[in-house]
Amino acid sequence: MKIFLWIVFPYICLTSFVLGHIWRYRYDKFGWTSRSSELYEKRILAWASPLFHFGILGVLAGHLAGLLVPESWTSALGISEHAYHIVAVSLGTLAGLATITGLVLLVYRRRMTPSVLRVTSVVDKAVYPLLGAVILAVSLVQIEGSVDLAMSIAGANAREPA
Ligand code: HEM
Repeated sequence: MKIFLWIVFPYICLTSFVLGHIWRYRYDKFGWTSRSSELYEKRILAWASPLFHFGILGVLAGHLAGLLVPESWTSALGISEHAYHIVAVSLGTLAGLATITGLVLLVYRRRMTPSVLRVTSVVDKAVYPLLGAVILAVSLVQIEGSVDLAMSIAGANAREPA
């Protein structure tokens, strides 16, 4: 089960992401739209959308940087492993909180603004719980990892000679 969840499933997701986009581009190029609802409601959207998008793109950028920048580069710049983790966890927490706040506001806006609710499709209604579940699951794994990291740092400091 672990192999399926952590190795097979991510590759299935990645493959369906790539193939889905190619299929969509070939067969539904002009149906590709963000279905903007800005005309119906602007006030909440002006906060919710940037919070959600900058948050989630920040999370993506952070993960890409973490995966693509080798440790030898950061240590060559004089950045210690400890400092790297503090910065990564702080920026990651900030981006995660912005994403979750933005998503909550987007769902609130969809539900509570009658004109926006009227143009909300079945697919929109399916996307929000799915997106929310993925973001929640990833956040819980990150919180667990951060607690482990904080405890290991505290433990390492406690063991340092006086
Ligand atoms: C560079 C990347 C992206 C661009 C340029 C972009 C652009 C947009 C635009 C123009 C809208 C319509 C906003 C409106 O109603 O006027 C939108 C909505 C939305 N985007 Fe993105 N997006 C990006 C990335 C993402 C990502 C990575 C996700 C999630 C994984 C996402 C999820 C959503 C959702 C859920 C909405 C609907 C908001 C609502 O109306 O309730 N977007 N996006």
